[in-house]
Amino acid sequence: MEFSIRSLAPERAKSGCLVLGVHGSTLAKAGLQADKAAQGALRRVLAQGDLAAKAGATLLLQRLPGLAAERVLLVGLGERKEFGVAQLRDAVRGAAQALRDLGARDATLYLGDMVPAGHGLPATVRHAVLGVRDAFYRFDQLKTQKKAPAPALAAMTLALASGPVTVQAQAALKEASATADGVDLARTLGNLPPNICTPAYLADEARKLARQFKLGIEVLERRDMEKLGMGSLLAVAQGSRQAPKLVVLRYRGGRKAEKPLVLVGKGITFDTGGISLKPGAEMDEMKFDMSGAGSVLGAVRALAGMKAPVNVVGIVAACENMPDGQATRPGDIVTTLSGQTVEILNTDAEGRLILCDALTYSERFEPAAVVDIATLTGACVIALGHVASGLFSNDERLSAQVRAAGDEAWDRVWPMPVWEDYQEQLRSNFADMANIGGRPGGSITAACFLARFTRKLRWAHLDIAGTAWKSGREKGSTGRPVPLLVRLALKQAGKA
Ligand code: BES
Ligand code: MN
Ligand code: ZN
Repeated sequence: MEFSIRSLAPERAKSGCLVLGVHGSTLAKAGLQADKAAQGALRRVLAQGDLAAKAGATLLLQRLPGLAAERVLLVGLGERKEFGVAQLRDAVRGAAQALRDLGARDATLYLGDMVPAGHGLPATVRHAVLGVRDAFYRFDQLKTQKKAPAPALAAMTLALASGPVTVQAQAALKEASATADGVDLARTLGNLPPNICTPAYLADEARKLARQFKLGIEVLERRDMEKLGMGSLLAVAQGSRQAPKLVVLRYRGGRKAEKPLVLVGKGITFDTGGISLKPGAEMDEMKFDMSGAGSVLGAVRALAGMKAPVNVVGIVAACENMPDGQATRPGDIVTTLSGQTVEILNTDAEGRLILCDALTYSERFEPAAVVDIATLTGACVIALGHVASGLFSNDERLSAQVRAAGDEAWDRVWPMPVWEDYQEQLRSNFADMANIGGRPGGSITAACFLARFTRKLRWAHLDIAGTAWKSGREKGSTGRPVPLLVRLALKQAGKA
């Protein structure tokens, strides 16, 4: 989808479809202007009550007199005084879903009427682009039958009925398009089946990005990890036929002296639980257990694609968690890259075992901050559901930045404690720590485990177990938290 932004009188827009906002049953500004040219045709339709009052409801009208456009799509914005980012997102999604099924090849969305109070045009542009791209995302490369036909819509103009298009709005368009490319990448990697999206596949995807965007890349193989002493990551990988990969991608868009933001992603390409085998129901969804890694590749792609003036290192820790004669047993004790020892009491708590070594490895990049992203615990889904990702941090300022980035991107997080009080749950009689802390506060003790490996770092951890994918009929990857990570990187560099 090609996006552009311009100032344009609605009645003159030669477009396949005009998209006009409606508050309650009252046309917003651009709609009023179009209605005037159409001699009240829009108002007459609205008076009949055919457009539902809620944000995202749509009504399609054809061949109205006085308008250059072929169609008009009215979209509900909800009541004017209740209009916020949630309503904007709903309206954009509703409009995009309706446009998807039309024959129109281009559309003109009047965005000037859709700026929520307290938000600017740039933020509105970002929500519009990401919302439309989200609705137009498809993953049907593995279907040979009954594919939905590709939508005709190929171009969308974000239009202002009045007022100039600012450079900030233009920049937001570019940022959002690149972000959407990153979200698409993360979604596709998540949706790919675990027999295709293996650790080697993730490493190859990273190599492709490196070629396309001229990034630095290094892929550590099993023997490299052995030499370094990543005993914990290797313990998870040892039950699988798939070789583990530790991928380091570097994008340098900022000043040379600027320390990088390091993103570390959990890349378990399939999590059976290992010898502590998971129950069978919905186990297929554990193909999404590499979503943290996917979001790291997506965020790096986005930042490189928009040529952001930031320095970022993306680390992907990839392996598979399988039961096998070679697999780690409950009770095994391993030595991590940090030197600390871990008693593996449950092989299904494997995410923290690969992340701890990747986090220790991240120290060598002298990061300004490190953020790890992981589908780490079922307990986080119980705590926060599918709306907010869990945010854990050892640094108040970083934590506040991550929260703000999440709010701006509508990719929200909620803070959870990483207090020392929880650490005793990780006590082991035989090693420095156990890899599980019991049922109470399961997402917190997982974070506390990671905290033992980040004492030298400004660190935040995002538990995306509830937000990285959807189950049920809509089963599929969401691409979260790529939008958050992009905002965070820009913020860190003082560019947002
Ligand atoms: N990948 C899972 C976490 C998960 C579970 C994400 C369900 C989304 C939905 C992780 O590796 C895991 O198995 N965690 C265990 C930890 C436990 C053994 C301490 C869990 O959450 O049950
Ligand atoms: Mn697991
Ligand atoms: Zn897992």
